[in-house]
Amino acid sequence: METQIIRMNEQHMAKEQLEKAGGIIKSGGLVAFPTETVYGLGGDALNPESSRKIYAAKGRPSDNPLIVHIAKMEDLEPIVKEIPEAARKLSEAFWPGPLTMIFQKSDIVPYETTGGLDTVAVRMPVHPVAMAFIEAAGGYVAAPSANRSGRPSPTSAKYVEEDMQGRIEMIIDGGDVEIGLESTIVDMTVEKPMILRPGYITKEMLEEVLQSVSEDQTMMSLESGQAPKAPGMKYRHYAPKGDLTIVDGNEEQVVEYINKQVPFLQKEGHKVGIIGTESTIARYQGDVCKSAGSRQDETTIAKELYRILREFDDEDVTVIFSESFDTAGIGQAIMNRLLKAAGHKIIHI
Ligand code: TXA
Ligand code: MG
Repeated sequence: METQIIRMNEQHMAKEQLEKAGGIIKSGGLVAFPTETVYGLGGDALNPESSRKIYAAKGRPSDNPLIVHIAKMEDLEPIVKEIPEAARKLSEAFWPGPLTMIFQKSDIVPYETTGGLDTVAVRMPVHPVAMAFIEAAGGYVAAPSANRSGRPSPTSAKYVEEDMQGRIEMIIDGGDVEIGLESTIVDMTVEKPMILRPGYITKEMLEEVLQSVSEDQTMMSLESGQAPKAPGMKYRHYAPKGDLTIVDGNEEQVVEYINKQVPFLQKEGHKVGIIGTESTIARYQGDVCKSAGSRQDETTIAKELYRILREFDDEDVTVIFSESFDTAGIGQAIMNRLLKAAGHKIIHI
């Protein structure tokens, strides 16, 4: 299959292009599109055949449910059994935006889309191209991140092309994404809403709207021994080819520790990659050293993390060390993804 690539941004969204992209979805095809978090791999959420195609294109297990993307509030009601009051409040505060909520599904949502579950994940993205595309596609676009299973989520169209060329009908190139990590997922089907995946919308932000929100205990540690409540979180996603270890401690000691390992590993034939920050990067002596951004503004780190992991893959780095990050605010999402990429390997010094 020839994958067509078209460019669109807020200023340039030609009607014919939107109709073409929307038409592909309506006729059961797949289109990757930009959102504010990461690129999505879209298909018609109400067409079981489209969802099957999404799993096949990604190489993803079909028990891992998809997020249904909508563009307006009226479109929520037909796909859910009920809209709890708390969900209404969160939608007023954070939709459109990087928040996914889980509801009891209605009968029109096929089990192929929900991975066999009676619940459905719904998100209304704020990216103008995403919104226009979802409308043009008929209102309901099922979309996981547009990476091949096991690769980091794509933060620009170039990475979607790497993973999906020849596997889907179209890629809408809307430039680099804003946030760089996937949406916050909150389960609204339980009495006390529960965060299943941390993201840009933090617990503190949610608790400004609802009195109290709980968290899946498996998000930041393996200690509970339980399975994560979001089926997708049990997979070792985001795994770089290189063996990743996080090193946590004071700045000086972390730099010293990592630099000390490098010559031994190089002697064994390894190519060593290091993820540092603006204030430390010049001091590292690895083969490839990349700054993720500034600790003063961790949104910069969220935006760069997946790109860096992909670049290490391209550069055939075999061992990776990363600094650890403060888990306040967006830092919790950064550490959640980093811990998963590292298979929870973290050294405290
Ligand atoms: O930011 C995002 O959410 C991006 C963009 C494209 O919108 N999408 C995304 O989709 O990250 P995906 O498929 O890569 O991750 C969806 C996660 C998976 O961990 C899945 O298990 C969970 O959402 N999920 C989906 N439906 C669920 C449900 N009914 N119950 C529990 N978890 C669910
Ligand atoms: Mg994903």
